[in-house]
Amino acid sequence: MAETPILDALIHTVERLRVPLHVPGHKQGRVLPSAFATWLGQAAKLDLTELPGLDNLHQPDGCILASQQLTAAYYGSDQCLYSVNGSSAGIMAAILACAEGRKVLFAGPFHQSAWRGLVLADAEPVFLPSRFHAEQCRHEPPSPEHLRQALAAHPDTAAVFVTSPTYHGVVADVATLAEICHSEGVPLIVDEAHGAHFGLIEAFPKHSVAAGADVVIQSVHKMLPGLTQTAWVHVTGDLVSAATLERWLLTLQTTSPSYLLLASLDVAQAWLREEGPRVATETMNVLAEAGLLPSEMPFADPLRHWLPTGSLELSMTIRSALQESGIYVELADGLGVLSVFGFGITRAEVSRYLSVVNRVLQQTPTSRATGFVPYELEQMGTLAIRPRRAFGKPAEWVPVQKALGRVSAGMVTPYPPGVPVVVPGQRLDEPCVQMLTALSDMHSDIHGMRDGLIAVLQDETT
Ligand SMILES: Cc1ncc(COP(=O)(O)O)c(C=O)c1O
Repeated sequence: MAETPILDALIHTVERLRVPLHVPGHKQGRVLPSAFATWLGQAAKLDLTELPGLDNLHQPDGCILASQQLTAAYYGSDQCLYSVNGSSAGIMAAILACAEGRKVLFAGPFHQSAWRGLVLADAEPVFLPSRFHAEQCRHEPPSPEHLRQALAAHPDTAAVFVTSPTYHGVVADVATLAEICHSEGVPLIVDEAHGAHFGLIEAFPKHSVAAGADVVIQSVHKMLPGLTQTAWVHVTGDLVSAATLERWLLTLQTTSPSYLLLASLDVAQAWLREEGPRVATETMNVLAEAGLLPSEMPFADPLRHWLPTGSLELSMTIRSALQESGIYVELADGLGVLSVFGFGITRAEVSRYLSVVNRVLQQTPTSRATGFVPYELEQMGTLAIRPRRAFGKPAEWVPVQKALGRVSAGMVTPYPPGVPVVVPGQRLDEPCVQMLTALSDMHSDIHGMRDGLIAVLQDETT
């Protein structure tokens, strides 16, 4: 049996506890409203606080530390830190620890928590060009050559940030990217929020700790059997101070972390050693039999299925048809339909999914909408104003044509492909205004623009 120090300590405490004279106020479920208590069941008993023997996430030296060490040993990282505030907190902490007041080079699409990290750290982003694959309706993995060139052009880079896998399941060549970063003495942060299962069996892509990344952030709740909000952060090597990262990570979390979430992290690390490999192999067999394994392996996550449509209408038709059959997908947008098969999916479920999707596709004359504009995310360069200074400043809405030379107050994101073309703090130059005008003339769905208007800073000097 794999060790589960947090769960063991909780059970030990629950078995001894007779009179709870402490928070939380629901008293192990005793005074929980019954409509909720019925669903929560026995779990309410485990929702305790920092009682003797239960350690403290903010200064761990008992069961929490032991569990974190087990997770670090499993992945081969130097230190693993638990987060009850998702990968979001881990990503912000990583940027704060690596790049406070300095430059971060972004290779490919990034989650909004990375942008929040830049704001908190008063750091400056530099964007690598990111090629959009029109047929696949998703971004290609970052190019090592682009990274090499960008590091040469920005020798003051404090950290490189990569998302792998992306939401759409694209896996980067992290080993090569790490090698390039390390040759310049720069740490590589990998947002592996969707890839905590990587490396579990041979058939999966290697995880980014094994690939040599310095900081790896993984949501346990996304792909492993973990409760929502659970995540962990790995630190390896000496380019990043684990102590500094831990301080930031704790600063970004509650002082009352849920023991249900901590226990969930604990049992997830045990699951990886015990049932995990068998369940993973069974899942892969089911997907292989159904012909659903991606051809791009190992540069694609086999547990998610991306169906590119390039058409909002088609995506919505597929989603509705699936929903009528009781099947709920992760996402459907103008680019395609994303299904997270995850672990434990059965043959019957896969064939039910396929029969609905195939029926809709057969009834659809063309699988691609007209007017779909694939594009390459151009180098956005450095910004006129750092994200921190642009954050929350008074803005005004002006017609795009009148925005030339002004500084953007928000993000502008056309759907498809759902990747920002303008970020807060960016000065709107001629090519940018032309591109925004063309996009708005096409009546694309553009977040951050309203009726041809764009938000710019009222006063960029303050
Ligand atoms: C690529 C990526 N990174 C990070 C996050 C944030 O993860 P969490 O929900 O665990 O905070 C998400 C959330 O969807 C994501 O898609």
